[in-house]
Amino acid sequence: THHPSPQHRISDGFVEVLGHVYPRDAMTNVTTKILSKVGRGLHNQVHHPLWLLKERIKDHFYRSYLSRLGTPLFSAHDNLSPVVTVEQNFDSLLIPADHPSRKKGDNYYLNRTHMLRAHTSAHQRELVRAGCDAFLLAGDVYRRDEIDSSHYPVFHQMEGVRLFSKHELFAHVENGEDLALFERGGRRTPQKQESHTLEAVKLAELSLKQTLTHLVRHLFGEELEIRWVECYFPFTHPSFEMEVCFQGDWLEVLGCGVMEQELVNSAGAENKVGWAFGLGLERLAMVLFGIPDIRLFWSQDESFLQQFHLPTIHHPVTFQAFSKYPALFNDISFWLPAEGYTEHDFYEVVRSIGGDLVERVSLLDQFTHPKTKKVSQCFRIVYRHMERALTQGEVRVVHQAIEQAAEKELGVQGRY
Ligand code: FA5
Ligand code: MG
Repeated sequence: THHPSPQHRISDGFVEVLGHVYPRDAMTNVTTKILSKVGRGLHNQVHHPLWLLKERIKDHFYRSYLSRLGTPLFSAHDNLSPVVTVEQNFDSLLIPADHPSRKKGDNYYLNRTHMLRAHTSAHQRELVRAGCDAFLLAGDVYRRDEIDSSHYPVFHQMEGVRLFSKHELFAHVENGEDLALFERGGRRTPQKQESHTLEAVKLAELSLKQTLTHLVRHLFGEELEIRWVECYFPFTHPSFEMEVCFQGDWLEVLGCGVMEQELVNSAGAENKVGWAFGLGLERLAMVLFGIPDIRLFWSQDESFLQQFHLPTIHHPVTFQAFSKYPALFNDISFWLPAEGYTEHDFYEVVRSIGGDLVERVSLLDQFTHPKTKKVSQCFRIVYRHMERALTQGEVRVVHQAIEQAAEKELGVQGRY
């Protein structure tokens, strides 16, 4: 309710986002609906569950990792614009020009050169170049996707990066002065990149895995079961995903790995090796707080948000893990007009009137009258509110409005 609503506009020739104007071209595919989420900054909204999780992670890093001067080692950034160049989002991370992750169908492009970031990794190079050796970065990310209980086209990630000089990496190793970060003429193997020594990689990998294990145990408790799965990212090698055991299932919560040296070098830190991770804040928050549906993070309902209003970030959340509120079913049948009707027109009518209350519409039955040859269809509409139980009475009002609109706009003849 208190969030600013920045001016975003899509006009014939231009897309305007966060005060900047981008000329449209053949790549432009961002929609006003998506732009309306830009600037919401759920992760910066005090007491929001994503903010709470972000603050707990920051606090954990601040306390656990100190510089030699006793100040926090990791800096935290949470206000970088989600509008990035295509170069930042892909090229800076060594993602090849023909890589499937660049597809127009999977991303929101403002135009050929600019897009809404698809991951927080888009900022790795600029922050390393700015001199950050250890940082956390939280932000909203955008991917074209279906909407269901675990997918939403906007979600939030937290990136972490740590670079080590030779001295830092080998500080605690006996006779560490004799070890090197880099070797010439080495080979790339499943364990390491060509330019890295095996000792350097193994220590970086150990630091990465210990840091992340320590983090999730801190958040979820010591009993949490964790496993590492090897995987692939163009910007790390070796690469891993962490999965946690949640209600008997393995759930992927983050991707990570040893940063590709070419990336580190291009950011001007060629005497260091580093690790990076990117975790999904919604994924973790859903498990941690028992939030059953990813759409709830966008709720402005006080009865939802209030449950995360704690005296300090360390207080336990008393969120009532609720199963979804019950669905209500209402059927509708009508005779079709002789021509000019498609089912999609009916779905449009239902969506425009029922909005988010409508979970599903399905065709239950269709038949042709033996004498008049008229066709009748029967649909079932499933109504459900994300945040409270609907009453039959309020559903009836919406359902009747749909019946009337169908007759008026589609020329069907109701059998109500
Ligand atoms: C990435 O985005 C990489 N940038 C992660 C990374 C960073 C790798 C640094 C190496 C080094 P991926 O697409 O797998 O990878 O997403 C990372 C995490 O974001 C996932 O593990 C998951 O927790 C979360 N995530 C991904 N897609 C979704 C989605 N549709 N909805 C909710 N969370 C998602
Ligand atoms: Mg993944």
